[in-house]
Amino acid sequence: MKTTISHIKADIGSLPGHTTVYGPVEEELRKYVTEHSRDLLDDFHISHIGDDLQITMVHNRGIDNAEIHGLAWEAFKAGTKVAKKAGLYGAGQDLLKDAFSGNIKGMGPGIAEMEITERKSEPFIVYMMDKTEPGAFNFPIFKMFADPFNTPGLVIDPNMHEGFRFEIWDVMEGKKIELSSPDQMYDILAMIGSKSRYVIKRVFTKESHEKLPDENVAVVTTDKLSLIAGEYVGKDDPAAIVRIQSGLPASGESLEAFSHPFLVSGWMRGSFNGPMMPVGMKDSKMTRFDGPPRVVGLGFTLKEGRLAGPVDLFDDIAFADARRKAIEMTDHLRRMGPFEPHRLPESEMEYTTLPKVLSNLEGRFTPIEDHINKEKLKEPVREVD
Ligand code: 13P
Ligand code: 13P
Ligand code: MG
Ligand code: MG
Repeated sequence: MKTTISHIKADIGSLPGHTTVYGPVEEELRKYVTEHSRDLLDDFHISHIGDDLQITMVHNRGIDNAEIHGLAWEAFKAGTKVAKKAGLYGAGQDLLKDAFSGNIKGMGPGIAEMEITERKSEPFIVYMMDKTEPGAFNFPIFKMFADPFNTPGLVIDPNMHEGFRFEIWDVMEGKKIELSSPDQMYDILAMIGSKSRYVIKRVFTKESHEKLPDENVAVVTTDKLSLIAGEYVGKDDPAAIVRIQSGLPASGESLEAFSHPFLVSGWMRGSFNGPMMPVGMKDSKMTRFDGPPRVVGLGFTLKEGRLAGPVDLFDDIAFADARRKAIEMTDHLRRMGPFEPHRLPESEMEYTTLPKVLSNLEGRFTPIEDHINKEKLKEPVREVD
């Protein structure tokens, strides 16, 4: 029998700004899911990073299941009531629609789901990021499943030696493509380097994988970006599920992808680039300049639908230097204030409040063509020796 892991997340209000979730709201979510999941879920875990609440659910109803999505939606609605009562900032922020209509996709929350053949031991990691966008997972997921300098298993484990298949979404055009690593690695990189447009949605094993042929082994939330009501709606804090071990990246190979902070977009007002800092749950508060962007990793094993764990994986001195470097990068970038490339390029500011500011200046522009001597431009240019 197949097992499904569904991870659904939403920002339904935070305090004091976009810093962190409020304990009583998280408690309400836990209470709601506990009381309403008896016939639906085998197990679940509720957690958060920064201002995003996260529900990890285990069941056997497959992906895109109306009742599972409905449960998460109603739980977020119940949490929103508490958030509104407490006057939390942005209460109900990610619940974009009023009525649930069978699928939570396109309604605001982020969804990462996969249906799996449960192994004898089924270890996996749930990664949760705040103050960034789904494309922030491109770099670490590529490193885990395609970079032999990060993941030596790709070289020395015969089960990984054939590589993996990547499903990549063009979130601007609403199209997807599947490419194989290592043979099409350069094509993969040609796309996923443009992380605001091309995002890794899923990773699969190949048919030749001896232990786990043709299986979904990683999935990233991309839904809000994909197109809500036909429009690109900007950044959304992502999460991912990554299966590990036994012909897949080892736990440490997966975590290693976060050992050097890389730059991501979506910090402060969704408008700035900043370093991705790996932290334990105790540091999952977005403080300095509403960040810096952070990632938490929760490690689980799954057996016949029941979860063991989680282990708070980045709560470890071994990642202290990555955190220090991220803080150093923060200092460096912050001195640039509102200048690119700390601030996002103009093309990505289109979805922020900047166009309103610029539109106020429109009437004050005069053409500069008047000042250019067009005749002079027509004169032949002196030949260079
Ligand atoms: P398995 O391939 O047996 O899961 O373990 C490899 C490993 O964890 C080395 O660190
Ligand atoms: P969130 O996307 O985490 O709600 O943050 C928004 C923001 O503007 C932070 O500065
Ligand atoms: Mg928020
Ligand atoms: Mg957030």
